Amino acid sequence: MKKVYIETYGCQMNVADTEVVFSILTREGYSRTEDIAKADVIMANTCSIRDNAEQRIWGRIDYFRGFRKKHPGLIVGILGCMAERLKDALLDSGKVDLVAGPDAYRNLPALLAAVSEGHPQIDVELSREETYGDIKPLRLDKGGVSAFISIMRGCNNVCSYCVVPYTRGAERSRDWKSIVREACDCFAAGYREVTLLGQNVDSYLYEDVDFADLLAKVAEVSPLLRVRFSTSHPKDISDKLIETMARYPNVCRQIHLPVQSGNDRILEKMRRRYTRQWYLDRVRKIREVMPDCGISTDAIVGFCSETEEEFRDTLSIFEEVGYDSAFMFFYSERPGTLASRNYPDDVPQEVKTRRLEELIALQNRLSLESNRRDLGREFEVLVEGPSKKDAAQLCGRTGSGKMCVWTDSTHRAGDYVRVRVQDCTQATLLCEVV
Ligand code: 5AD
Ligand code: SF4
Repeated sequence: MKKVYIETYGCQMNVADTEVVFSILTREGYSRTEDIAKADVIMANTCSIRDNAEQRIWGRIDYFRGFRKKHPGLIVGILGCMAERLKDALLDSGKVDLVAGPDAYRNLPALLAAVSEGHPQIDVELSREETYGDIKPLRLDKGGVSAFISIMRGCNNVCSYCVVPYTRGAERSRDWKSIVREACDCFAAGYREVTLLGQNVDSYLYEDVDFADLLAKVAEVSPLLRVRFSTSHPKDISDKLIETMARYPNVCRQIHLPVQSGNDRILEKMRRRYTRQWYLDRVRKIREVMPDCGISTDAIVGFCSETEEEFRDTLSIFEEVGYDSAFMFFYSERPGTLASRNYPDDVPQEVKTRRLEELIALQNRLSLESNRRDLGREFEVLVEGPSKKDAAQLCGRTGSGKMCVWTDSTHRAGDYVRVRVQDCTQATLLCEVV
């Protein structure tokens, strides 16, 4: 049996895809190994979202090739977004034997067989239909608590900075019946939380089932199954969805709502298709219906031509919303995108870096303030396992997505526990069992 080792980079969608890849390969007689030194096939499931993500992977490719010295037949493959973006250039580098884009995974057994005969292989065909809906993912964390379920692929938004529509192709929704079945399978296997994944879940539509309908169907699998989802687009998140969330106690009160910028001119240039006011109205609606809802975001600083004043609008929208957490980046030009073709990447690197530091410092304060508001409150948390720092402690998240740790020798992963917040850091709620 040939052993396959895969390293996964980038978003949660890639983690879900790696589980699909393992499912496809193990059906064809391959086995999974977590020990890179024992692998006959080493692959990276890659990310292209920012240049530094790709640079890191080039470094890994060189490292993978090092194992050839001891293992002459070793196959090195690149999957995912970077495979799709760079295509033949990856093969031409002479460093890899196999390049497969996000819609080519069903072909992997055939591609690997051809590589074994000594012929490098590439398949970067994108599909309008592929959702891998019939494939039961091989979960990477056996006996785990929380699973990802991919509900759609691709993206039709074409935000001007973003490479994803080019690497993942057109948007398509997976049959809701296969999604509900997968959620049932997860629950039966002991999972207590599923996260429904899509680049823009609010535009999910299969036959007449929209995302709010799908969320309700998954929530009805069991009241003991927590349901999360990501990512929402501010222009598409509907009142119906917000109201559906509120109807199901097992749908976690957490929305990841990437703002990207707080300035209307920049939002327009990013082709986000909402305004600052629209975004704030959506936040108001969410809080009106679910006052305890966690809200997190993504933001980019130093986008093409962003002035200091425009950057201040991003700081002020962070302050106004009071995010619980955020992912923050400086703009990285991606070849082929609308922005790279139309606008010069003209904010100097030192300005980008300084703005990013300023935004991160602000968010650190907001995260701490958000956690302080929870002091003394009680939450039902789902135990994920022992805490990383202290084996006598367990960790788990609140519905709103905050990490809790507490001393506990009676509960285990998958249990629900009621805890009270005694203290906090910016990243964690320090609790006791109630
Ligand atoms: N440069 C920097 N950040 C980016 N993101 C997407 N494209 C870029 C880019 N070219 C960020 C966005 C998105 C998150 C996944 O990555 O904030 O929401
Ligand atoms: Fe990276 Fe985006 Fe591809 Fe996910 S979809 S792997 S974040 S480029």
